Amino acid sequence: GLASTSLAFAQTYPNKPISWIVPFAAGGPTDALARGIAERVSRELGQPIIIDNAPGAGGTVGAAKAARATADGYTMLVGHMGYMGAAPALYKKLAYDPVKDFEPVFRFPDTPLVLMVRREHPAKDIQGLIDFGRKNPDKLFISNAGVGSSSHLIAALVANSAGMKVTLVPYKGAGPALVDVIGGQVDGIFDQTNTALPQITEEKVRALAVTSKVRLPQLKNVPTLNETVLPGFEASTWYGIYAPKGTPKPVLDKVQQAYLKVMTDKSFTDKMAAQAIQMLPAQEYTGSALGKHTEAEVARWRAVAAKANISLD
Ligand code: MLT
Repeated sequence: GLASTSLAFAQTYPNKPISWIVPFAAGGPTDALARGIAERVSRELGQPIIIDNAPGAGGTVGAAKAARATADGYTMLVGHMGYMGAAPALYKKLAYDPVKDFEPVFRFPDTPLVLMVRREHPAKDIQGLIDFGRKNPDKLFISNAGVGSSSHLIAALVANSAGMKVTLVPYKGAGPALVDVIGGQVDGIFDQTNTALPQITEEKVRALAVTSKVRLPQLKNVPTLNETVLPGFEASTWYGIYAPKGTPKPVLDKVQQAYLKVMTDKSFTDKMAAQAIQMLPAQEYTGSALGKHTEAEVARWRAVAAKANISLD
């Protein structure tokens, strides 16, 4: 029967390289985090995990590609809060359903974000930037990774809550979006800590605020939005690995076991801590926890997007 064939199939799995689709350009935080985790998970599984960057439309192009892939365990999606949480509320004709078209496999640790501005921007702190944005409604250009990316969502939410009008400039990923803040072509970006911290340390950009509830050890002198202009505000990007619906469960279990070993490896957790990436309680990493989280997030973002009238640009 099917169960025995999929069990036999799982016994030989994996016997060739695996592809993880990252729906943003290389060099961004999702790409960087996925590559670091893929390298460790592939060591556990004994086969290479190849990153396939498939950018476009805030990650929804790559997510649709993953939903259509063969459900054999050799193609998976690196999902995240935007295209696997908020997208159904933002894209009227979404080519996939984050819940129905996928098997949740495991969740990554969360990444808070840092609001950074180009060095020459006149704003010296977060209040100064908001005052600037209010006084010059069409003079603040904030780059992001496309409609529905976390850099877009959080910029839209913060601008909305702070009563300032910003122009949101989409790129194929936060990697290229950050390059243009460093180059001064755009004014600012909300970017995840793993890619933001090196640029701040090298003073290529200036950090004005973080989206975590409490200050980050690596940025003690950078205030949170919560303690300054948006009391109660907290946001971080969550991620997870999803397989196309129908991928055999013994395959998913094998990948999940490999992953959970990585999550308890001290060299990994130390690396995450150094990047201000937040480890989660172990039970949150499982496929079933990710599945529940995805459903809750799709519902939450419908409410948030309606209230903050965030829609397609
Ligand atoms: C985003 O949501 O902004 C993405 O994380 C961008 C990226 O990883 O390139």
